[in-house]
Amino acid sequence: MMQALALAERARGLTSPNPLVGALVVKDGGVVGEGYHARAGAPHAERVALTAAGPKARGATLYLTLEPCVHQGRTPPCVPALLDAGLRRVVVAVLDPNPRVNGAGAAALSQAGLEVSVGCLEAEARRLNRPFFTWVTERRPFVTLKVAMSLDGKISSWNRASRWITGVEARGEAHRLRSEADAIVVGIGTVLADDPELTVRLDPPWQREPYRVIVDSQARTPTSARVLSAGSPGRTLVAVTESADAQRVTALEQRGAQVLTLPARDGRVDLTALVAELARREVTALLLEGGGELNAGFLEAGLVDRVAVFVAPMLLGGQDAPTPVRGPGRGLKEAFRLTGMTARPVGEDLLIEGDIARGDEDVHGHC
Ligand SMILES: NC(=O)c1ccc[n+]([C@@H]2O[C@H](COP(=O)([O-])OP(=O)(O)OC[C@H]3O[C@@H](n4cnc5c(N)ncnc54)[C@H](OP(=O)(O)O)[C@@H]3O)[C@@H](O)[C@H]2O)c1
Repeated sequence: MMQALALAERARGLTSPNPLVGALVVKDGGVVGEGYHARAGAPHAERVALTAAGPKARGATLYLTLEPCVHQGRTPPCVPALLDAGLRRVVVAVLDPNPRVNGAGAAALSQAGLEVSVGCLEAEARRLNRPFFTWVTERRPFVTLKVAMSLDGKISSWNRASRWITGVEARGEAHRLRSEADAIVVGIGTVLADDPELTVRLDPPWQREPYRVIVDSQARTPTSARVLSAGSPGRTLVAVTESADAQRVTALEQRGAQVLTLPARDGRVDLTALVAELARREVTALLLEGGGELNAGFLEAGLVDRVAVFVAPMLLGGQDAPTPVRGPGRGLKEAFRLTGMTARPVGEDLLIEGDIARGDEDVHGHC
């Protein structure tokens, strides 16, 4: 199953809105076929593995990181193909959370007389597909908040310069994070300060183009903003409220942007409505790139799942220099806590990552 999970991982960032899936056909202790789901619309992992195995699949065991489907999606259901192959046993890591499958795939296999077991490396399989599970079960994207800051916690200098706080390797890693996302989101403050492109810049060029999203209640985005001319025009979304000036909205649309008029909360874009709209557009993974005001808004709305902070070996100082999370702030008891923290060097910087603890989790040492 570990090998099947590693196969699935090869398509990271390419399968959305589908999950990553890997499959391995094993007979007499040897692998006779393997496969993974390469992109939405391409054959499912189990079909690739069974095709590779050919007649050797008869009497074999199939290791599969996600329950096989029983419904017609972009491709035909897989359960009949598993039955036709003459497998003896199927080992599934985790059930598909999609209500159209959820146990039905496994049940159909055992009703047909196959030996079926579910739950092998289940936690790892869930972790592999956190965006997919969040999107299917909560109808919202999995949100990663990404920050680049100095060791003293500043995301730009006192005079608002933020290019570049981190080194070239960390910036490369940040583009890799972008490549795994279906949408990259920033606040209007960041567009006005930094004029970012919000594109994925990797070598070789990345095959998918995440949405570039600006949260901009009053449609203040300048028509000269780089985010409007970078990449395909239709992939830039500007989220505004009803009170945005109609002429500015029209000017943004004429530049090719899609303007999403969303409900307001306290006069600003309602972020819960924004992520629901993005989920409807098949955004399963969202990368939130600041700035501090928007980060605070997402955190307060309970919409952040994971935090990735690049820490540069520099001290910027300045009491007015911006920090990663603005908003009103919280007391120690109410702070947003993180679990499963890790840190690793990326070039000369450190990447610190962790998950936002939900109320029902035990946060060690802070009860
Ligand atoms: N180093 C880094 O990682 C990094 C990354 C990004 C930015 N930055 C820095 O951060 C600074 C900009 O940050 P910022 O805090 O001024 O601006 P920001 O967070 O980029 O944008 C904040 C604006 O977003 C709009 N907004 C709309 N709906 C909102 C909601 N529900 N909650 C919160 N905001 C909402 C508000 O303007 P409206 O009310 O007009 O809509 C708000 O003023 C710059 O200095 C930039 O260089 C650094």
